[in-house]
Amino acid sequence: MPNIFVIKKKIKNFNNKIITVSGDKSLSIRWVLFASLAEGKSKSSNLLVSEDVKASIQAIKKLGIKTRLRKNSCEIHGKGLSGYNYKNNIIINAKNSGTLGRLILGLLVNSDKNIKLIGDKSLSKRDFKRISKPLEKFGAKFKLTKNKYLPLRILGTKNLKPINYYEKKGSAQVKSSLIFAALRTNGTTFIKAKKSRNHTELLCRYLNLPVTVLRKKNFDIIKIKKAKKIKPLNYNIPADISSAAFFIVLTCLKNNSSMTIKNVNINSSRIGVIIILKRMGAKIIFKNKRKYKGETIADIFVKGTNSLKPINCPENLNSSSIDEFLLIFLVAAKANGVSFFKSLSELNKKESPRLKWGSKILNLMGIKTKLSNNSIKIFGNPKINIKKKIIIKDYLKDHRVFMSSVIAALSFGGHWHIHDKNSINTSFPNFLRILGEIQK
Ligand code: S3P
Repeated sequence: MPNIFVIKKKIKNFNNKIITVSGDKSLSIRWVLFASLAEGKSKSSNLLVSEDVKASIQAIKKLGIKTRLRKNSCEIHGKGLSGYNYKNNIIINAKNSGTLGRLILGLLVNSDKNIKLIGDKSLSKRDFKRISKPLEKFGAKFKLTKNKYLPLRILGTKNLKPINYYEKKGSAQVKSSLIFAALRTNGTTFIKAKKSRNHTELLCRYLNLPVTVLRKKNFDIIKIKKAKKIKPLNYNIPADISSAAFFIVLTCLKNNSSMTIKNVNINSSRIGVIIILKRMGAKIIFKNKRKYKGETIADIFVKGTNSLKPINCPENLNSSSIDEFLLIFLVAAKANGVSFFKSLSELNKKESPRLKWGSKILNLMGIKTKLSNNSIKIFGNPKINIKKKIIIKDYLKDHRVFMSSVIAALSFGGHWHIHDKNSINTSFPNFLRILGEIQK
């Protein structure tokens, strides 16, 4: 079977479809890491069983923790905050996962043995200095490839010192890694963090860990003390809004169609995509809102429309929609006017340079863009109807480039050959199966 996905037709109208997408990736990885530090057995259900999460489970196994994965439920037998047991010079493979690669380093700052961290081709092009630099302040030692990249070596210390740090990028990966390190450190660490997804802080609160958050308008002040003990964490992972977003946008772009996506995590630090799409005229409603262990969950109802407006996107929405921009750009492609997205240099630091790829896909579709290092102008065309052949390949197997291209093909027509279908296994192995159900 070639690893190319071919699409020759637009999707037909669909009505009142009800779907469930897989568990949240950020929460799945965090659950694995917290459970590995807990004292006793933690259980999860609806865990996302994707390559990134499997790599996380493999990583804690390497650190001597017992795990049992069955379908999408998992048990982890934590042995407490000092319970890792491993030999010198082990190798941990974060594969494609920036979240695993960065978060786990925070857990290893007190390691008295050398550990090597490696990743795949895409992860090996991503910046690890953003995390080694602040972790060095705690006292851990690092050796990075070309001073910035994987493979890297970490050697921790038992004599960790608390730090004061200003996280300016709005990176939840950096922030979370520092919280993990601070939970191992005597004294009080202060992190001033530009707003980003806050799942780690919410889990700390649920677990009664010594972490407090003072919320200011554009940043948070997070105060962390050393944790004495972590209790087991049983968790039913809600659905991932970043996976739901593919179907939200598919429906938005399809007039006379509608869909409900069940049990989605609508944490306010994740719903930038919904706020942006609504400002562009999309019809989206949260139903059946409820709380679960600090997170907020809802069913999302979406109705297609033919009148989409352009947006001058406020940059304070960037971090809460950072994984959804390729999709938001598709909506801008059909809007009646010119949209502008700015201060987005972080987007080029993902699994592939996504700002560039977003622009490239739109250009292949016949949509004009004006691209800079950190911004894009998109000249929308409400009548867009593609007739030509489009090939998408050599994009570092970025799962979100693949899935966004599929949504573009089904929405705008044309004859698409989209390479590296297997990339969906990174974050959303059920993606094509769910699409098939909608088309039935
Ligand atoms: C994530 C944080 C984001 C996001 C990634 C998942 C997380 O990255 O892009 O897909 O789970 O913490 P940054 O923190 O680097 O912005």
